[in-house]
Amino acid sequence: MAEGKCPVIHNVAGGGTKNSDWWPGQLRLNILRQQNAVSNPLDRDADYRKAFASLDYQQLKKDIAAVMTDSQPWWPADFGHYGGLFIRMAWHSAGTYRAFDGRGGGGQGQQRFAPLNSWPDNVSLDKARRLLWPVKQKYGQKISWADLLLLTGNVALEDMGFKTFGFSGGRADTWEPDQATYWGGEAAWMGNDVRYAGANSTDPKAHAEGLETPVAASHMGLIYVNPEGPNGNPDPLAAAEDIRVTFGRMGMDEEETVALIAGGHSFGKTHGAAGGDHQGPEPEAAGLEAQGFGWKGTYNSGVGPDAITSGLEVIWTKTPTKWSNQFFEYLFKYEWELDKSPGGANQWVAKTDDLIIPDAFDAGKKLKPRMLTTDLSLRFDPAFEKISRKFLGDINLFADAFARAWFKLLHRDLGPSSLYIGPEVPKEELLWQDPIPAVNYATIDASDIASLKKAILGAGVAPNKLIAAAWASASTFRGSDKRGGANGGRIRLAPQRDWPVNNPAQLAEVLKALEGVQAEFNKSAAGGKQVSIADLVVLGGTAAIEQAAGQAVPFLPGRADASQEQTDVVSAGFLEPKADGFRNFGKSSETARTEELLVDRAQLLGLTPPELTVLIGGLRVLDINTDGSKTGVLTDKPGVLSNDFFVNLLDMATAWRPATTDKIADSYVGFDRASGQERWTASRVDLVFGSQAELRALAEVYASADGGEKFVRDFIAAWTKIMNADRFDVKSLDGTT
Ligand code: HEM
Repeated sequence: MAEGKCPVIHNVAGGGTKNSDWWPGQLRLNILRQQNAVSNPLDRDADYRKAFASLDYQQLKKDIAAVMTDSQPWWPADFGHYGGLFIRMAWHSAGTYRAFDGRGGGGQGQQRFAPLNSWPDNVSLDKARRLLWPVKQKYGQKISWADLLLLTGNVALEDMGFKTFGFSGGRADTWEPDQATYWGGEAAWMGNDVRYAGANSTDPKAHAEGLETPVAASHMGLIYVNPEGPNGNPDPLAAAEDIRVTFGRMGMDEEETVALIAGGHSFGKTHGAAGGDHQGPEPEAAGLEAQGFGWKGTYNSGVGPDAITSGLEVIWTKTPTKWSNQFFEYLFKYEWELDKSPGGANQWVAKTDDLIIPDAFDAGKKLKPRMLTTDLSLRFDPAFEKISRKFLGDINLFADAFARAWFKLLHRDLGPSSLYIGPEVPKEELLWQDPIPAVNYATIDASDIASLKKAILGAGVAPNKLIAAAWASASTFRGSDKRGGANGGRIRLAPQRDWPVNNPAQLAEVLKALEGVQAEFNKSAAGGKQVSIADLVVLGGTAAIEQAAGQAVPFLPGRADASQEQTDVVSAGFLEPKADGFRNFGKSSETARTEELLVDRAQLLGLTPPELTVLIGGLRVLDINTDGSKTGVLTDKPGVLSNDFFVNLLDMATAWRPATTDKIADSYVGFDRASGQERWTASRVDLVFGSQAELRALAEVYASADGGEKFVRDFIAAWTKIMNADRFDVKSLDGTT
């Protein structure tokens, strides 16, 4: 057994049976305290974006290009060019992104760490990264691994004759494995027993669509789908259903999906020199002497012609190191018959005597065209076929679609285009970037803010509704891919204004009032000043909280309103919270309890455990539940910003009981222990602050006699942080404004 998997007890600090082993259902607050300063070796004031800007970018690209053809004996380059390997490295770095929660993706350089560095689908990418080490070493802090892995994919494409759409740097590295991303619940690589609701369905479409959220891959340890077909079944039509669902969850439409797969497989080869067990343990399980390498090949030399990566053995085109349209040409020219790789995996070979495909290492050898089951999906699935035939007939169209889809793949989690940096940033605005128009008018000043606050509070809308609208708008932000947030004013557009979590009727009432205030202001403001609804939504909440707190709450103007045309309704739909504990919205399921969903959302919002705690305590007494209920509103003075929620939650005079007999109760009733009289109702999210030991410790701070002032101060700070979470125009990326 590999060293890392040895079930030996290590009786040292940090070893032994853990709380999470004893109580696997524990709330995972650890995800709210990762990637903090103690892990980061760089100086506290290190600014990666500045460092990147000081880079000799063109020289870096030349240095990367030189690596392409500098074949190393420890991992010889196929066809004398590492291009295919590097494209796959970049694709696998970015391709872990999933639209449901914006997690995954290449933005943090996580391919260096477990589990990704050891995923079965990432075999041999340890070699790809190591080939780049001299370049990384030369440029040090000026180029992050995150940027380097992706830029190298671009350079590979360009070096092989493809014109890319552009590149932006700006992805700072992380220094420890990400713990927040749910990759699936299986205990075995490539298992799919947990993630498919309809695991036994014989209908491939129904099966594919039964994939659990938020994952996008069909198997644990895969970037997307099984290349041999679902569960190894070489059925291109069934595989097409898996492709459609998984790439769709990456935020790709069908055209982008076809372009990506065909574009990628226009280069390189797959590796499956032999059958049998010829791979050593993955990097995390390999011995120290392997120095971070894994999957040591034991078939003959283990490298070059003897390399085993996927176990498949396919070369798609006649020119695997040159951009061409041969992938589509051969896909449609030949009929295909099922074949086995030397390793016994299902793949397809052209029914032809044409020996036109080169061997990676033997110039005298010629082979037949071959394809993966998932490649054939692009011909045999009727919807994919239409797109493929279009690309077959027009290589320029294909090139443009691939260039754009590749750019999207690499930049999907980089945030708004205002964050893009470097000499290759494209000028064109793209819908998936959630564009926000530039503010080309004078913005409101302190005296305007004061009068607008008055106008809003006097517009006849209850303060709690103003706070709820501000929260609804700003709390869509997610740090994972820097989407969402109040800027853009998309709260007033489809689909956001219609989300159940936002109580659409109530939201409409608030928006109507704010539009009135806006019209009045914009019509009469001096000096061409304008105010956006995006700003007014936040200002309304802020003004109402000032009133509730009896003290000033910071407000930063300058948000702009995007239009409906600038909003991709499908893509924006991925931001919809199906549960939001901050507004006591949503129900538990067998697989996710509402308090877990709360912590999940808090992580996306970048909150620490104390910030999460103080926000819940404050929003409860401010009475902003989606359904207007009093659940968790543990105060006699709703609308006053007090620490009552914590005081009453921790009050031993109250005893709590589930209000239902459901297996997982979502509502509870609090009784007076002495009289038996009902005092409060609460949700799981409310009660977890009294029941979970760490959250209780935090609640105690705010419930204490000296906690009241601190509570108000901390609440205002946390509120302000959320309102400004997406203000990349005015704050540095570490969150300080
Ligand atoms: C190689 C599967 C999509 C780019 C491979 C390999 C497999 C595979 C099994 C062989 C790995 C090895 O043995 O070395 C798939 C599947 C896909 C998919 C199932 C989705 C249905 C993509 C996409 C891209 C891409 C979207 C890039 C845009 C590549 C490249 C190689 C490769 C360049 C060659 C690697 C080399 O030359 O070493 N793919 N792939 N693939 N893939 Fe994909």
